[in-house]
Amino acid sequence: MSASTSAIESVLVENRVFPPSEATVKAARISGIEGYNALCAEAEKDFEGFWSRLAKTNVVWNKPFTRTLDESNAPFYKWFDDGELNASANCLDKHIGTPTENKVAVIFEADDGKVTKTTYKELLARVSQFANALKADGIRKGDRVLVYMPMTLEGVIAMQACARIGATHSVVFGGFSAKALQERIIDAGAVAVITSNYQMRGGKELPLKSIVDEGIAMGGCESIKTVYVYQRTQTACNMVAGRDKTFDEALAGQSTDCAPVPVGAEHPLFILYTSGSTGKPKGVQHSTGGYLLWAKLTMDWTFDLKPEDVFWCTADIGWITGHTYVAYGPLAAGATQIIFEGVPTFPNAGRFWQMIERHKCTIFYTAPTAIRSLIKAAEADAAVHPDRSDLSSLRILGSVGEPINPEAWMWYYKNVGHEKCPIVDTFWQTETGGHMMSPMPGATPLVPGSCTLPLPGIMAAIVDESGNEMPNGSGGILVVKRPWPSMIRTIWNDPDRFKKSYFPDELKGYYLAGDGAVRSADRGYFRITGRIDDVLNVSGHRMGTMEIESALVAKSDLVAEAAVVGRPDDLTGEAICAFVVLKRSRPEGDEAKAIAKELRDWVAKEIGPIAKPKDIRFGENLPKTRSGKIMRRLLRSLAKGESITQDTSTLENPAILDQLGQAY
Ligand code: PRX
Repeated sequence: MSASTSAIESVLVENRVFPPSEATVKAARISGIEGYNALCAEAEKDFEGFWSRLAKTNVVWNKPFTRTLDESNAPFYKWFDDGELNASANCLDKHIGTPTENKVAVIFEADDGKVTKTTYKELLARVSQFANALKADGIRKGDRVLVYMPMTLEGVIAMQACARIGATHSVVFGGFSAKALQERIIDAGAVAVITSNYQMRGGKELPLKSIVDEGIAMGGCESIKTVYVYQRTQTACNMVAGRDKTFDEALAGQSTDCAPVPVGAEHPLFILYTSGSTGKPKGVQHSTGGYLLWAKLTMDWTFDLKPEDVFWCTADIGWITGHTYVAYGPLAAGATQIIFEGVPTFPNAGRFWQMIERHKCTIFYTAPTAIRSLIKAAEADAAVHPDRSDLSSLRILGSVGEPINPEAWMWYYKNVGHEKCPIVDTFWQTETGGHMMSPMPGATPLVPGSCTLPLPGIMAAIVDESGNEMPNGSGGILVVKRPWPSMIRTIWNDPDRFKKSYFPDELKGYYLAGDGAVRSADRGYFRITGRIDDVLNVSGHRMGTMEIESALVAKSDLVAEAAVVGRPDDLTGEAICAFVVLKRSRPEGDEAKAIAKELRDWVAKEIGPIAKPKDIRFGENLPKTRSGKIMRRLLRSLAKGESITQDTSTLENPAILDQLGQAY
């Protein structure tokens, strides 16, 4: 946690304030800062009463709960735990018999531009039919099912079908490697994989099924009984007799009616693996009741969702944002949403803006990295500038996944929102299940680069290393003082790691987010300054430095030692920099370039292309103290290209620093 001091140093003064317009305040669900304050006051006054009221009014229960919060085994909190519900029924069945049943639930736009629309009623039938197919193969409540799918409607159907029968899904992003897949199958003890022959991205057909085959062939995956293959493209793929079936085969003869299986509120809806500060990804386990409540409620609060809205979250279902704000939240809230298969730059970098115009999108939610790359593209080519599209349907913009720099915020506000759309900068994490801090569009004055204030009921604070609260105007460690319904329940198979990672003894039982933050002196607004642990955020994708280090040293014929740090990058937020000691002499020039490429390809195979180091530097050793500890602060300076002005007197081998100057 020592890096929290850097959070304190980087206090940035941002004076621009953008209050919501009178019309926005008037029309909003949570109206004015008074509306926000009233909810916060209710939560302060009667914490359990507040959550109980919201859970009763926002979730359909098969069996009502009588206990709101059980803290007897903290930090293994239980919410609404004697209640029963089904997540899929809360997203689909509840709309049947209401005007929403014939509303379009999903506008799907494929990579090649083909558009398909699916109503709530149709979606329910498709989910039910797939749920029956899973049941027919013996998949039951509590079984784990791995989902490795492209960004298609079928991915959401797979997740909803699991939820419908009480199976716990674990979605793995389609960019992860065979090895990553194998590790997750083993850790989760999955009984089935739902995948696709290929995925289409940017006009290219990329394999998925062959990666599943490769992962399973690596061994230890005997728990897998069935592999379901969605035929996204016409190209044939390998099918293993007795194990693999196409969607068509699985669905043949299955009824489109399937009664949802009620589960306890604490039943694990899903496990989602994310990077932590050790080499092994953590299986973040989420509940059904508390998670669903927050997915639905934040749609209403953060996005001020109205029945006529067309909501678009651009995140992939392989990440938490795609879980909460594609697969569950919009459906639970009865929204019409856009699901996009492709990439923002194909066939050109105006794709997002053209899609907003085509589908009359009203709420657009994306990541700062996407915004930054589209700014660059628009500046280089006027033909893909947002001005070329009619964006007048938009009323709310959102940002997620990484800090948004004030310049990108202003561009988004002016060029996409035309200075009339509030930007909700939503701070949250895989572990939090849903938004933690965000403006409410009709209530909170906006400050560029700030996620402003915690949502009502979220008791966020900034503390020092002993858990003492810091006054406004200063920075420190971001914590949440009280549990909340959608919080992580445990790390799958590793409750000790859960306790140690998120509830360290010195922090008085507070939830440790792993980020540094500062609060402004005037408004008490929060600004996230970045991770205080060994986690990097590259294009909004979370990567553990130790995970990449382990991958590098796993190339044991070549690599003796590796250290990975992040450095700021204008486009991707952070970039991955690896310092490598080889088992042979230190390479230079073309040879170094060739080895750097070999190592990047290796990391892509071990973890996935998103983990490829941008810079690789070779040394005969790494800078170490006399006790043998790698001096990471020096590595961070080198990675940034800074000259070393720090005290190097404790350094065992100062000559190494010169060798590490060149990045390949
Ligand atoms: O560092 C914070 C950053 O992303 C981390 C969580 O990453 P992940 O679990 O992959 O979830 C990303 C999508 C919710 C956080 O610890 N982060 C997320 N949102 C923001 C952010 N940093 C600054 N501002 C945000 N709005």
